[in-house]
Amino acid sequence: MRANHHFVAWATLLILIISTVLRHRNVHAFVPSLPSCSFSPLHVSRSSSSSNSGRRNHDDEDEEQRYQAALAHNKIRTDVKNFLTQRAIQSFIFLLVQCRDPHTVRWMENTYEFRNMESYHGTGAFNLTKWKTWDSILDDMLHQPKDCVIVQAKRRGKGHGGWSANNPYLEERFVEFRIDIDPVSLASRILSVREQIAREWMEDLVTLRTANDQILDSYYDMGRAAREDESSSSSSKDSEENVEQLVTPYSGIDEKQRRVFDRNAMLMLTSTMIFKAFASSPQRQGNFDLLYLLLTQESLHRVLREYRESGDEREVSYEWLKGFYLARVGSFFDGHQDYGRADDFLEELLLAPPSTKELSSSRIGLIDPLRIAEDIITMRSVVAEEWKTEIASVPEDHMGLRKKLLSKQMGSYDPLVEQESSTPRSSLEDENDGVFQ
Ligand SMILES: *[C@@H]1O[C@H](CO)[C@@H](O)[C@H](O)[C@H]1NC(C)=O
Repeated sequence: MRANHHFVAWATLLILIISTVLRHRNVHAFVPSLPSCSFSPLHVSRSSSSSNSGRRNHDDEDEEQRYQAALAHNKIRTDVKNFLTQRAIQSFIFLLVQCRDPHTVRWMENTYEFRNMESYHGTGAFNLTKWKTWDSILDDMLHQPKDCVIVQAKRRGKGHGGWSANNPYLEERFVEFRIDIDPVSLASRILSVREQIAREWMEDLVTLRTANDQILDSYYDMGRAAREDESSSSSSKDSEENVEQLVTPYSGIDEKQRRVFDRNAMLMLTSTMIFKAFASSPQRQGNFDLLYLLLTQESLHRVLREYRESGDEREVSYEWLKGFYLARVGSFFDGHQDYGRADDFLEELLLAPPSTKELSSSRIGLIDPLRIAEDIITMRSVVAEEWKTEIASVPEDHMGLRKKLLSKQMGSYDPLVEQESSTPRSSLEDENDGVFQ
């Protein structure tokens, strides 16, 4: 009996272990396949069938074309003005939810194919093939017809208005509410939110830049402190810890030990917000966190481009960083994310060990993640400055759209009102029992 129990327990454990191993294997098998997805099968088949001498040219051309396409897409993807529109729409949706207007929210989500607008914490939310520039969606709203949704609510019936839920003679009755959706007016309100967020980002980009400039100092300080700790503790304990780290990366180490630099950005934002007289837009922290993430991604793209353009000299760094980035783009940059992913990414980069790689010309290239991280950090300051200039022109950008908006409101307002008053009255007014008497 007892032996039987033991057997069952062991078998269960074994199954658990096997399934865990299998699951992990699946995950690992999946991750490296991500980068290879970006190479089109078309390209492979064509290059293998063409002659050897023409192949080189074809390859280069294809490669160049793919690169240009990716470049164009990336520029739209990390465009700060595009992102500002996204956050303006999301903040506006947030306000609508606060005001209990789920119908307009649903209309927006259906029209622009975007779920969970209110709570999505990520960049690149809209379909960028369709909405390429910052004003694409807003301009589209100007051309959307007025819409209305009819909402039904139970007015009288079983279990309502004091009637028993079991009364078989009572017929159910509904009231209908009509909710008008005027896309032109929505666009106008979103523009106002967009301007407010732009004003905040002018400050936030300064804050980000200051925090960014402190990261490397903080990293060196912490490294020095850690080395001093190490030299004072015994070496046997040290090697034990190393083994532990190999077996379970991160899980065995407490949070403080893992940090390689101080994460000051959000702290600095919060302190500037406390001392402000006027209220911030909703989701200001969320905006800030994502702005930081987008800034990091854009800087990374630019560093990659720089490496690529400097040719042989940076070939190894380019290949290595591209691989490092592609393996992490899904978990750090695309889609819904946790807070602090920009710092997480940089931390992972700083924790990567230096390595060497053999080049095609049989030279040995050195990969120095610290040097690469420095390049990205330096680039972030440059991009932050540039974005400040771009954001400063937002009110000016809006002038054209505002003009169109106004003429739309003037032009189409009167006929629509007439048309509306000639339509049959809604059932709300036809109801003559109950509530209004
Ligand atoms: C984005 O829009 C393009 C063009 O309208 C469309 O072909 C594509 O399927 C859309 N992508 C997604 C993910 O919906």
